[in-house]
Amino acid sequence: MKNKMKGLILAGGCGRRLRPLTFSGAKQLIPVANKPIIFYGIEALVKTGIKELGIVVGETAKEIHDAVGTGEKWNIRITYIPQQAPLGLAHAIKISKDFLDDEPFIMYLGDNILKEGIEDFVRQFENNKPNALILLTKVPNPQEFGVAVLDENSVVKQLNEKLKKAPSDLALVGVYLFDSEVFTAIENIKPSWRNELEITDAIQWLLDNRFSIESHMVKGWWKDTGKPDDIIEANLLVLESIESVNNGRQKDSKINGRLRTEKGAVIEKSVVRGPVIIGKNAKITGSYIGPFSSIGDNALIENSEIENSVIMAGAQIKNVEKRIDRSIVGKNVVISVTTQSPRTHKFILGDQSYVQIIK
Ligand code: TTP
Repeated sequence: MKNKMKGLILAGGCGRRLRPLTFSGAKQLIPVANKPIIFYGIEALVKTGIKELGIVVGETAKEIHDAVGTGEKWNIRITYIPQQAPLGLAHAIKISKDFLDDEPFIMYLGDNILKEGIEDFVRQFENNKPNALILLTKVPNPQEFGVAVLDENSVVKQLNEKLKKAPSDLALVGVYLFDSEVFTAIENIKPSWRNELEITDAIQWLLDNRFSIESHMVKGWWKDTGKPDDIIEANLLVLESIESVNNGRQKDSKINGRLRTEKGAVIEKSVVRGPVIIGKNAKITGSYIGPFSSIGDNALIENSEIENSVIMAGAQIKNVEKRIDRSIVGKNVVISVTTQSPRTHKFILGDQSYVQIIK
């Protein structure tokens, strides 16, 4: 696809709802199927043909820069745009004005993953040239999202941000297309009760001032990875369509279903039921790895059982014979069962960690 528009990915914010995972790192770098979440957004934009990408960064700027780089990997140019504090999605657009110029652009929230990509969406914008195009999907819990109210002809009538009693079940997905009128809108809105310049207020201003706003329904699944359960869910959804690739070694093991292993991965005396992905130099021994699990690079799983979980790089899980399910284990975390004295529980957990032990 050809596309002269610029892309803007928002990767600032504080990721409060994902603590403690975000105490030590950016939420956009949490791995889903062993790939940082933000890479899904970058790849979706690259597929639409963009060549120039701006990434809005906050406190975790260095980390994001180190992981993403200059854009060479994708043959695009990346400009990093520092935001002094997470003052809202519309604020992030406002500070990107110099980068964006007065041209139409695609904004993509750096913690969102969409199965089907965004090409259809970009095509609709190019064909119809509205002032803004929003992406919508039906959700069972609209009170947790910004929502749009449409009339019987699917024309956008009203937008609301996270209301207790949501007036519609059509949530705003984290991808938007705008032309330069959005800057006028942002100049005319005030910060909300949470002291953020809200993108919903900016779009509502465009509506109130008779600019054209179109909407587009998402095909396939969409995941906003704001909370821990969303990460597990996104991991499941992405693994659902992986293909088997074997770059590692297997010995005395039983493999069912789709398995992707990276270079140097070793599976021995184990049972693996896919879809599962196992990272570089990870070692699985005497263990069971069940469906929808991602095991990070250099992780070690010994005499343990894991299912529906995200185990990050360098983590070690040893001798935990009761099954670990729907869990997220951060980088270099160690979970082990001891047979030596003193046979006590021993925890060294950061703030807001979560442990559940069964009898
Ligand atoms: P949110 O999930 O709305 O906010 P957050 O990351 O601060 O998370 P939490 O509510 O758990 O504290 O942000 C959506 C995306 O936009 C995410 O990738 C962070 C980014 N963002 C910015 O870049 N600048 C901002 O001012 C805000 C609010 C978000």
